[in-house]
Amino acid sequence: MTSTFNVHDAGGYEQLMGRWSRKLAPRFLDFAGLGPGETVLDVGCGNGSLTLALLEGADLAAIEAIDYSPVFVEAARRRNSDPRVSVRQADACALPFEDGRFDRALALLVLHFVPEAEKAIAEMRRVVRPGGVVAAVVWDHLGGMPGMRMTIDTLAALSEAGRQLRNRYCFQPMMQPGEMRQAFIAQGLREVAETQLIVRMDYAEFDDFWGPIAAGEGPLGKFVGGLPPEELSRATAAVRDAYCSGRPDGPRSFANIAWACRGIAP
Ligand SMILES: C[S@@+](CC[C@H](N)C(=O)[O-])C[C@H]1O[C@@H](n2cnc3c(N)ncnc32)[C@H](O)[C@@H]1O
Repeated sequence: MTSTFNVHDAGGYEQLMGRWSRKLAPRFLDFAGLGPGETVLDVGCGNGSLTLALLEGADLAAIEAIDYSPVFVEAARRRNSDPRVSVRQADACALPFEDGRFDRALALLVLHFVPEAEKAIAEMRRVVRPGGVVAAVVWDHLGGMPGMRMTIDTLAALSEAGRQLRNRYCFQPMMQPGEMRQAFIAQGLREVAETQLIVRMDYAEFDDFWGPIAAGEGPLGKFVGGLPPEELSRATAAVRDAYCSGRPDGPRSFANIAWACRGIAP
């Protein structure tokens, strides 16, 4: 399997995650670096959060954006009007580019959905010139996403299937402390550095939080979408209770931590 990402609807993804990945993208670029005149690869571009941040980050020569899902390729194309950007369907584990083509290869919230993430890192390294940069960022599902953890712990308390979901969700590839750093070093990257980036996710009310999940987006959405109506009502009520935590429904804010890693191609 090449991707475990649950592709549903590009608009729904924007509500679930795109609005937050747009906040994460410039922070990731501060860490990964960027220079004028560079040619950059955006691996797993999704709706184009990183692609657009790249355009704002520096006067680049060209951006190639790839994604495994045709739904997202279409969405990213629709969103972009800059002639320096080209978007195509491709697999991160078999990049359709020659060796050394790019100054930087970057992946925003992608590697944890690639079962053979090491292969994707090796490919990113291959297509970057000597001295170029490979960088990636993934959420820390186990210890760094209290809103999602609140939801998944609630689902796990309700059923064995929910427990199984939690077991998978908390240990997706590259999420453990130092895991991505080790993988970068194993692929021969040099001066490898890992850090944590924080983004707050602010919701207006429970429906703002739960809506995209209830609509079937992301791993939790896929699970929730498969529940029979009675179980879905029970799950919705229980997650609402956790969200509200004894206060009237309204705004809630969760701090989320991502692991970011970068290295230099030899
Ligand atoms: C959580 S989304 C992130 C999208 C975008 N980078 C962002 O931050 O909003 C994960 C993306 O990775 C893509 N993806 C997953 N596995 C992939 C693979 N093997 N090759 C290319 N793209 C992949 C998915 O299709 C999806 O668009």
